[in-house]
Amino acid sequence: MPTPVLHATQGSPAILGGEPVRKTPYPEWPDPKPWMLDALKEVWASREWGVGAPIIDTFEEKWAEYVGVRYSGSCVNGTEAITVALRAVGVKQGDEVLTSPYTFIGTITPIMSMGAVPKFVDISESDYLMDLDKLEAAITERTRAIIPVHIAGCMVDMERVCAIAEKHNLKVIEDCAQAPGAEWKGRKAGAWGHAGTFSFQTSKNMSSGEGGSVTTDDPEIADGVFAAKNCGRTREGVWYGHSRFGSNLRLSAWQAALLLGQIDTLDEENSLRHKNALYLESILRGIEGVEAIAVDVEGVTRHAHHLVLFRYDSSKFEGLTRDQFTKAAQAEGIPVGNGYVPIYTQGCVREYASWPFIAPLLKARGIDYSKVSCPVTERVSRHEGFWTHMNVLMGGASELDSFAEAFRKIQHHAGALKRRIE
Ligand SMILES: Cc1ncc(COP(=O)(O)O)c(C=O)c1O
Repeated sequence: MPTPVLHATQGSPAILGGEPVRKTPYPEWPDPKPWMLDALKEVWASREWGVGAPIIDTFEEKWAEYVGVRYSGSCVNGTEAITVALRAVGVKQGDEVLTSPYTFIGTITPIMSMGAVPKFVDISESDYLMDLDKLEAAITERTRAIIPVHIAGCMVDMERVCAIAEKHNLKVIEDCAQAPGAEWKGRKAGAWGHAGTFSFQTSKNMSSGEGGSVTTDDPEIADGVFAAKNCGRTREGVWYGHSRFGSNLRLSAWQAALLLGQIDTLDEENSLRHKNALYLESILRGIEGVEAIAVDVEGVTRHAHHLVLFRYDSSKFEGLTRDQFTKAAQAEGIPVGNGYVPIYTQGCVREYASWPFIAPLLKARGIDYSKVSCPVTERVSRHEGFWTHMNVLMGGASELDSFAEAFRKIQHHAGALKRRIE
């Protein structure tokens, strides 16, 4: 790997009025390709824009084949994909579902809105994924399902999750929103659990603006998925027959048309992201106090790199806090963000916990979200973690050199920055 030329430690930091390290923007996402217009035009001309459109079936079949399962059911988004999956695997009101506290709210909204109970297993320091050493201890006689979340496109050790789930007779729903095309030991995200859920929202590696999918190899779960997203209809039933509980959560033909072609380029794009993530990781190795994590992970045979996760050590930056560091980096033209806050601290969890049917149930079980403590998640969220979105990985190496250049510059001026950034 060539070592980037680093000279921007001279000059004052951009946040204090100096010249930013990077003035040219990073590749934008989503990437509107000309074939997409043709695909949308075909849908337009077909008049088959929604339910029953053959292109939706084609997308579902091709996506299932790509993931390596027998079935996939498309739906409106990644949040509702989890609702659909929870219903399809048989999670009911009051059941406990274990997941990670370091994730997007969409992982737990469906658990709460169906009246089930989210419980949290802290993350591991090495990859910010659910710490599987702590998983078994969190299982109670009310636990019905586990939702491992493949954050940043890095897969959780699914062999271990599935073994623990089998031992305790639990269902596994993989949250693959950030991991389309990722693999653990050669098997794809969405093909390990009883079900896998995907998001095709604007920022995601495959995007139709909004959109989602549930994958499964189990025909009964596939029937449940069909009903849950299709107003409770069954495949053999009549249009006005709603024998199961479900809602209208269907994908449109427009979205299917956009997604269909993106399956063909996903592997190539994941490979480009991986090559660039490795390069970014390597050039940051020379900077003490900031590292890209979970880039090259044993067992992950393909990484989707939806995000690049970083660990920051303020002691190597003269006490400059993580929040000050990311503000300074943003001013240098480096698109980084602070990442998730511990999900159990969100207002919506407090609101859910106050609902008339939920509050007594939680009280009887001694569950108080204000007392939940996941120390690693809290440290990562507040002090150590930050991230960048995968669009920065869609260009070349020189675009990534700016990260190292900016971080060195911030380190060089850390004392002054600490004093002067709010
Ligand atoms: C980990 C994770 N789970 C669930 C979701 C929800 O997906 P959507 O935004 O499509 O509802 C997202 C995406 O935003 C996500 O990143």
